[in-house]
Amino acid sequence: MTGKALARLDGDMLIYGCGTMAGAMLSRWLECGLKPDLVTAIRKSGAPAAGNVTTLSDSKGLTAPSLLILGVKPQGFPDVAADVSRLAGPHTLVISIMAGVSLEDLRLALPDAGQIVRAMPNMPVANGRGIVALISERDQATLSKQLNKLMAPLGLVEWISTEASFNLVTALTGCGPAFIYRIVGAMAGAAVRLGLDPDAADRMARAMVAGAALTMLDSDETPAAMAAAVASPGGMTQAGLDVLDSDGRLAALMADTLRAARERGRELAASARMD
Ligand SMILES: NC(=O)c1ccc[n+]([C@@H]2O[C@H](COP(=O)([O-])OP(=O)(O)OC[C@H]3O[C@@H](n4cnc5c(N)ncnc54)[C@H](OP(=O)(O)O)[C@@H]3O)[C@@H](O)[C@H]2O)c1
Repeated sequence: MTGKALARLDGDMLIYGCGTMAGAMLSRWLECGLKPDLVTAIRKSGAPAAGNVTTLSDSKGLTAPSLLILGVKPQGFPDVAADVSRLAGPHTLVISIMAGVSLEDLRLALPDAGQIVRAMPNMPVANGRGIVALISERDQATLSKQLNKLMAPLGLVEWISTEASFNLVTALTGCGPAFIYRIVGAMAGAAVRLGLDPDAADRMARAMVAGAALTMLDSDETPAAMAAAVASPGGMTQAGLDVLDSDGRLAALMADTLRAARERGRELAASARMD
């Protein structure tokens, strides 16, 4: 979903912790027609959030909203949990974007909240090309009807059936853009070391990855089939692919990368847990 579907919301929205990630979601929603006067943002600094939304430095005077988006860092959650709990009433749908913090821990911290949903967005939501993975405590079918209208303008919306895989989904989709940026940088860096001009290498590596990504979005082929279509037997591309594939080194590197990110998610969840 990359078109400008309308961001639809019944009721008001409070974003508790409106930094980089929640701010990116908010910007896209506003761009897609969400009315700013339905939204209040809380930032510790009180610095203005996207658009003309009311931004406060604390929750004084606020009452339970229809939708409460929880966008603080997982490590910061214990400090604000009691305050968030006061705002999460029986008619409040809470959406936590905090990495690693389980539905069970959220429910323990927010016992009176109506429904609790975990969402894992990634930064490309800012231009509608992101992914939002979602899981709810219950009533997934009803909630998905309601939430898909809000989430669709952000990009691909995926409901996850087992929470055990949520940290892995986070590693793939939430952390994944950073891994791709690192790979692009490594390819450009390698080209520079082998003799290309740094600026030209940077420009071409970015354009190449953007073009390859868009081609992949338009294709029904698997990535393996797409790679095979570019590589003629005995040709240049095949010579490079043989290096990536040798001893399964790229596959092993990616498995180690996702495993490390998933493990860190588990550690962050432990640090977000209330004692
Ligand atoms: N960044 C990503 O790509 C990404 C992807 C998926 C999920 N997430 C999740 O999104 C959450 C936020 O990450 P981020 O990268 O957006 O971090 P961030 O930019 O630091 O945002 C955290 C926000 O929380 C606010 N905050 C901190 N302490 C507060 C307090 N005591 N009271 C009120 N507001 C408080 C901060 O206020 P100030 O703005 O004043 O500092 C800031 O707006 C994390 O839980 C992370 O796991 C991030």
